[in-house]
Amino acid sequence: MMSFENQNILIIGGAGFVGSNLCKLILNETKNVQVSVVDNLISSEKENIPLNDARLTFWHYSITNDEVLNKIEDKFDYIFHLATYHGNQSSIHDPLADHENNTLTTLKLMNHTKNFKRLKKLVYSSAGCSVAAKTFDEAHATDENAPITLTQDSPYSISKVIGEFYAVYFFKQHGLPTVRARFQNVYGPGEVLGAGQWRGTPATVWRNVTPTFIYKAINGIALPLENDGIATRDFIYVEDICRGLIACALKGTVGDVYNIASGVETTIKELATHINEITQNKSGFEHLPKRPWDNSGKRFGSTEKAKKELGFEAITTLKEGLQTTIQWTKENASWIQKNIDKHKDRLV
Ligand SMILES: NC(=O)c1ccc[n+]([C@@H]2O[C@H](COP(=O)([O-])OP(=O)(O)OC[C@H]3O[C@@H](n4cnc5c(N)ncnc54)[C@H](O)[C@@H]3O)[C@@H](O)[C@H]2O)c1
Repeated sequence: MMSFENQNILIIGGAGFVGSNLCKLILNETKNVQVSVVDNLISSEKENIPLNDARLTFWHYSITNDEVLNKIEDKFDYIFHLATYHGNQSSIHDPLADHENNTLTTLKLMNHTKNFKRLKKLVYSSAGCSVAAKTFDEAHATDENAPITLTQDSPYSISKVIGEFYAVYFFKQHGLPTVRARFQNVYGPGEVLGAGQWRGTPATVWRNVTPTFIYKAINGIALPLENDGIATRDFIYVEDICRGLIACALKGTVGDVYNIASGVETTIKELATHINEITQNKSGFEHLPKRPWDNSGKRFGSTEKAKKELGFEAITTLKEGLQTTIQWTKENASWIQKNIDKHKDRLV
């Protein structure tokens, strides 16, 4: 079986939610491995990563800092690029900050590594939301060849698509061994509400629907349902995403793209109902209007190509994943609260 044994790995954005889970999974499952993380902690906390592990090197910097970039030498076997300006609403608030921490991270990293000889793969984390059809009608599984529209909902989404353009360009022009992994909606342990710095809107704290619902349900608060919760998403457990990323690195075809999805379409109302049931939250729902910028109502990813070509399938059911995430949230309640409270003066 292929593995990362004796390999040197670089994770950009490795202190973040997905990056820190990837970092821990690789270190836990590989004996002889070196992992370097570059992260400016704009949306994460250094406690996310196992700093005491001698096999880990942490660089607290932005990858767009040229001095840091120039210190990245041609000695890595695999690079995972997970840095982003989290998330859609922060990017709408500050498109230039999104450009700096999203598009530019990708362009500078790929431009710097384009002639690296040792590199086997550079895995770029793209987003299924950038290619999904903009519909509230019945959704069909979005496959890897789906057309990409010019009408994107946010600078974040634009940056993710530009990242794909560059991944293809640097592969074709310079032979940079890029593989694009298109994620669906990831949830799981390690996503810390309020992690990192204030990014202009309450979405700094309420990062994503699943951790927000879990936090509120545990605290007996009604779950906010926009547009009656009719939107659908493809929720994928973070360990499954990390295994998908590893499969892209070890088995993906260079220049190609893979959906890393569960393939299961779930309404936001179903998600909220599961969470209220597991946490025994009696406060039910708070009904809110639709978010004005969000037009990609119903969506889920096709799993066929990743299954056939990478042998990858998500194995965690939503209920199992939610149980584990709720348990983790309860165990880390005071740390999560501390991160939320960092922003309490701005959170109105
Ligand atoms: N979580 C999801 O549901 C989801 C869905 C689709 C795609 N993705 C993609 O997966 C990747 C990881 O997402 P996440 O949910 O872990 O987000 P995250 O915010 O937890 O992680 C992103 C990390 O990038 C770091 N970062 C930002 N700017 C940087 C810079 N200039 N230099 C170095 N590090 C920088 C942040 O501090 C953070 O640690 C992102 O690229 C995101 O677009 C995530």
